[in-house]
Amino acid sequence: MVDLRSDTVTKPTPAMRAAMAQAEVGDDVYGEDPTVAVLEAEVAALFGHEAALFAPTGSMANQIALQLLVSPADELLCDADAHVVTYEIGAAAAYGGISSRTWPAVGAEIDPEVVAGMIRPDGYFAVPTRAIAVEQTHNRGGGGVIPLPTLRELRGVADDAGVALHCDGARIWHAHVADGVPLRDYGTLFDTLSVCLSKGLGAPVGSLVVGSAEKIERARWIRKRMGGGMRQVGILAAGGLHALRHHIERLADDHARASRLAEALAPFGVVDAARVRTNIVPLDLTKSALDAPALGAAARAEGVFVSVLGPRTARLVTHLDLDDAGVDRATEVLTTIFRR
Ligand SMILES: Cc1ncc(COP(=O)(O)O)c(C=O)c1O
Repeated sequence: MVDLRSDTVTKPTPAMRAAMAQAEVGDDVYGEDPTVAVLEAEVAALFGHEAALFAPTGSMANQIALQLLVSPADELLCDADAHVVTYEIGAAAAYGGISSRTWPAVGAEIDPEVVAGMIRPDGYFAVPTRAIAVEQTHNRGGGGVIPLPTLRELRGVADDAGVALHCDGARIWHAHVADGVPLRDYGTLFDTLSVCLSKGLGAPVGSLVVGSAEKIERARWIRKRMGGGMRQVGILAAGGLHALRHHIERLADDHARASRLAEALAPFGVVDAARVRTNIVPLDLTKSALDAPALGAAARAEGVFVSVLGPRTARLVTHLDLDDAGVDRATEVLTTIFRR
């Protein structure tokens, strides 16, 4: 079986499991888990911030950050395809009472002027904008990387308007490897970031909220209220530390494998290989004889799992548990299906 549905399907490596088994632990709700403390300090330093907070999921990390930045009824701006408004089941509204407004889905190709034009000032006649959120890399945007100059412009837009800037950095590691931008250069542009250890880096669980010491102190309180205070969670933090220390630079292999898949499928008119920059290969089947469910079923019958995202949209994702032989097998199966 070759599983290309997501980079979340990876299993911990033997070395990661060993690190987890040996982790020193304590009750983290009392702030006494030494391994969590090391992970939080290491991640904060990587992004040039004062503090970080371990959270069980990327969704919770995003939602904690949004609650830090936007008061109930005030407004968040993000793109229409953003994870925070697509896959987090209305959490910003349900838990934070946050109003969300979106710019059209353009993936990583954000026009800062469009965003600037949407910001509504403080006042009692319109919902005031408090924060802008971007996604690096962009999941539904085919793993696209927002260029550093665009992020700098967005920082300027946020500063001019006095609003905050959040990064859903679930796969910010992939952007760092693809564009060679130091994580710190990304980190210092944002008021808050959420980063994931379980997407591509191979840890079984875990995300962090990153920000100032003051924000993270408040974040700890919000996390507890959301039911995310965890006890001897150093076992999981140890997996995350191992992932950070060993699995970032190797993402270049995942990117190269995604490019190989894209190049093999490009002749069928379903993907523009030049746009595949990281580990996600989006398939657009609008001009194909096959629709996405048919492709998914035919591939699965041959032991290749792909994500069916819509009637004419599918996705392949490369990851730590996929090697060159897996890519060869997937290429053979998928090209045979498209040739039929
Ligand atoms: C861009 C992005 N943000 C956040 C998340 C949420 O992560 P989790 O599934 O851990 O809640 C995901 C999950 O795939 C994601 O792709």
